[in-house]
Amino acid sequence: MQYRRLGNAGMRISAVALGGWINYGEGKIAEDAAQATVRRAYEQGINFFDIADIYGKGESEKQMGAVLKDYPRHTLVISSKVFWPMSDEVNDQGLSRKHIFESVEKSLKRIGSDYLDIYFCHRPDPETPIEETVRAMDDLVHQGKILYWGTSEWGGEQIAEATAIADKRNLYAPVTEQPQYSMLWRERVEGEILPITQPRGIGLVVWSPLAQGMLTGKYDDGLPEDSRFAREGWAKERYMTEANTAKVRALKPIADELGATRAQLALAWTLRQKGVSCAIIGATKPGQIDDNVAAADLVLGDDVVAAIERVLAGK
Ligand SMILES: NC(=O)c1ccc[n+]([C@@H]2O[C@H](COP(=O)([O-])OP(=O)(O)OC[C@H]3O[C@@H](n4cnc5c(N)ncnc54)[C@H](OP(=O)(O)O)[C@@H]3O)[C@@H](O)[C@H]2O)c1
Repeated sequence: MQYRRLGNAGMRISAVALGGWINYGEGKIAEDAAQATVRRAYEQGINFFDIADIYGKGESEKQMGAVLKDYPRHTLVISSKVFWPMSDEVNDQGLSRKHIFESVEKSLKRIGSDYLDIYFCHRPDPETPIEETVRAMDDLVHQGKILYWGTSEWGGEQIAEATAIADKRNLYAPVTEQPQYSMLWRERVEGEILPITQPRGIGLVVWSPLAQGMLTGKYDDGLPEDSRFAREGWAKERYMTEANTAKVRALKPIADELGATRAQLALAWTLRQKGVSCAIIGATKPGQIDDNVAAADLVLGDDVVAAIERVLAGK
C-alpha cells in the first residue's frame, strides 16, 4: 500500500480507503461479509476508514467501529461526518455549533473511540454562517475530540471562505475536501474544486471513484443479481447509460494491455491527479478489496492517460 499525506497535513492515509456508506449498517450485505471485508481492508494496508453519522443512521459507525476496535487505534485513521438530519428535531441537523458539538459526542460513542482523525462537514449549510462552523471545528480540535477537519461537496467559494476565516482568526483550517470524482464524474472537481484546494494544500479524498461499480466492467453484459445497481435503482439510472456502458467496455483493452483490471485502471486514474490524496472505495466482498488495493501501485504513463481520455471523450 502507498501512504500519502493528506494535502499539506502531516498525517498519512492509505491511497485507497474504505468507506462505510450503503454497504454497512443498512443490512444490505450479510454481517459476516461486512466484517470480513473491513478486516481484509486492514490486512491489505488500508488505514483510512471513512464513516458518517447518517450512514445507516448511526448503524454504519457502530458496525465498522465494532470491527476496528480490534486494531491498535494509532494504526487507524477514522473519519465521521455531520450535517444531514438525524431526526425531526429542529436542531438535529446542519452545521450549527450546537449540532456539531452534540453530534461529535454521539459519533464517538457509536464508533467506540475517544477522538476522530478527521471530521467532515458533510455539505455546506446555508442556514449557518461559515464562521460559526469554522470556530466550532477549531474548538473541537482544541478539545482533542478531532485531529483534523474537512468539508464534503462544498463549492470552491465556500472552501475559500472557510480557509480565509481560519487564516484571519488564527483558527484551524480545513485540510481536506471530499467530493465525488471518477472517470465518469469529473467536471466540478477539475473545473472548480482543484483550482481552490491545490494552492491551499487541501487534499481531496474522493468518493465513488468506481462510479459505484460501473467502472469495474461488472455491468458490461447486464445487471448481475448480487450488485449495487440491482439493489439501488437510482444508482443504476445515474450511471448505467448506453454511453457509459460503451466507454467502460472500450477501457477493457487499455486495462488488459497493462495486465490490470478496469477497477484498478479507474482508481489509478483518480490517484494520478495532483491534489488527490486518496480514493475512498466501497466493497461488499474481501475479493474486491484485493482487486482495488493493487491500484495504488499502478502507474499510468502519458500514452495510457491519453488513450483513456480519448475513450472518455467518446472518440
Ligand atoms: N461525502 C459524501 O457525500 C459521500 C457520498 C457517497 C459516498 N461517500 C464515501 O465514499 C465511499 C465509497 O462510495 P461508493 O461505495 O459509491 O464507491 P465505489 O468504489 O465507486 O463503488 C463501490 C461499489 O462498487 C462495487 N465494487 C467495488 N470494487 C469492485 C471490484 N473490484 N469489482 C467489482 N465490483 C466492485 C461494490 O458494489 P457491489 O458489490 O454491491 O456491486 C462496491 O460497493 C462511501 O462508502 C463513503 O465513505 C461519500
